[in-house]
Amino acid sequence: MKITYYGHSCFTAEVMGKHLLFDPFISGNPLASGVDVMKIQADYILLSHGHNDHVADAEAIARRTGATIVASFEVAMWFKKKGVENYHPMNIGGHRLFDFGKVKCVAAVHSSTLPDGSSGGNPMGFLIESSDINFYYAGDTALTYDMKLIGDYKNIALAFLPIGNNFTMGIDNAVIAADFIRCDRVIGMHYDTEDFIKIDHKEAKQKFSHAGKELILMKIGETINLN
Ligand code: NI
Ligand code: MN
Repeated sequence: MKITYYGHSCFTAEVMGKHLLFDPFISGNPLASGVDVMKIQADYILLSHGHNDHVADAEAIARRTGATIVASFEVAMWFKKKGVENYHPMNIGGHRLFDFGKVKCVAAVHSSTLPDGSSGGNPMGFLIESSDINFYYAGDTALTYDMKLIGDYKNIALAFLPIGNNFTMGIDNAVIAADFIRCDRVIGMHYDTEDFIKIDHKEAKQKFSHAGKELILMKIGETINLN
């Protein structure tokens, strides 16, 4: 699977030939000033919750590409009201088969107010199952015992976990989360974007490797291939 990082918690993952874009926050992220939002491809835009640092560029990209926004009912309806044509509302516990594979919405422990103050419902994470790969995109979340259910439910080859602390779990809890979901390969997200969430990269990688796991910290704009 081809993965491109656009900073903060924003990635595209190419699954079965479709571009899945997660939590686009680019134009407001000074670290991502080298990324051209107008060039990002998307067939689906998955939004974990309503916070601005996860939805900021979703409307513009959806309008340009015609991508389908997949999000909580409240977040999806917020974009519908803005005139986004293609949207698919979901909620925690549900799954839905799309043309690239299955999306299952799982619990995230966080909050989810939209930029104008309206409710984004509950925050969530996504479990993506396809014949290419199964992976977990955690969104913004604390470490939660519910993550064990994800590990029980499916073999996860790759997990996108927040590691920046302060607003989400930090490194130590992310190592435990990786254990709960029984996944040895983690791509870190939600770190370094602002002072509160700056991390020591070397120390973070060491903590994962001491637990027998790999932490991948992608460069903004970088594309990697993982199977
Ligand atoms: Ni958030
Ligand atoms: Mn956030």
